[in-house]
Amino acid sequence: MYEKDQKLKDENTTKGVGMSLEDDLKKAFISESEVNRKYLSYARKAENEGYEHVAKLFRAVADAKGIHAYNHLRASKEVKSTRENLKAALEKEIGDFKDMYGTMIEHAHAGGDKWCVKSFYYAQETEKLYLQLFQDSLDNLGRQEGEKVYYVCKVCGLIVVNDLPEKCPLCGSRKKIFKKVD
Ligand SMILES: [Fe+2]
Repeated sequence: MYEKDQKLKDENTTKGVGMSLEDDLKKAFISESEVNRKYLSYARKAENEGYEHVAKLFRAVADAKGIHAYNHLRASKEVKSTRENLKAALEKEIGDFKDMYGTMIEHAHAGGDKWCVKSFYYAQETEKLYLQLFQDSLDNLGRQEGEKVYYVCKVCGLIVVNDLPEKCPLCGSRKKIFKKVD
């Protein structure tokens, strides 16, 4: 901890600063990651409204924010070996779909908000699949595998491997909505 003094602690809380270097890195990573995704969402909206130049600006700043987030995560030594990262990803996905989204869906149902129910439901359903993909990748790490092509549904986030279906099995969107991952 930097300082035990309560006054400094209060000042740090106001400024969004942590009480240790580890805390600072965590807060900075969360902040940069959040803004990265927010600006990419704003870019998508600007694109839909025909403001391509604004969309580009949002994407540029989002990229920069993503770089900051990556630097903070590396500095906090949370980017480990691929085997360890796959295990960490598995733990994260298990937590999200078992605990977090299950409860959030109940809350959204209780509040009668269908849009929120759908949003949480898509995330929960797709995370079961990510879990499987990470597990397969971990099981086969270091083995010779055929090349895989991943496609992501831009509506619900479902990932399909190699063969594109005519419609997304989760949200029903047409084939053309899928984005090939480079
Ligand atoms: Fe979909």
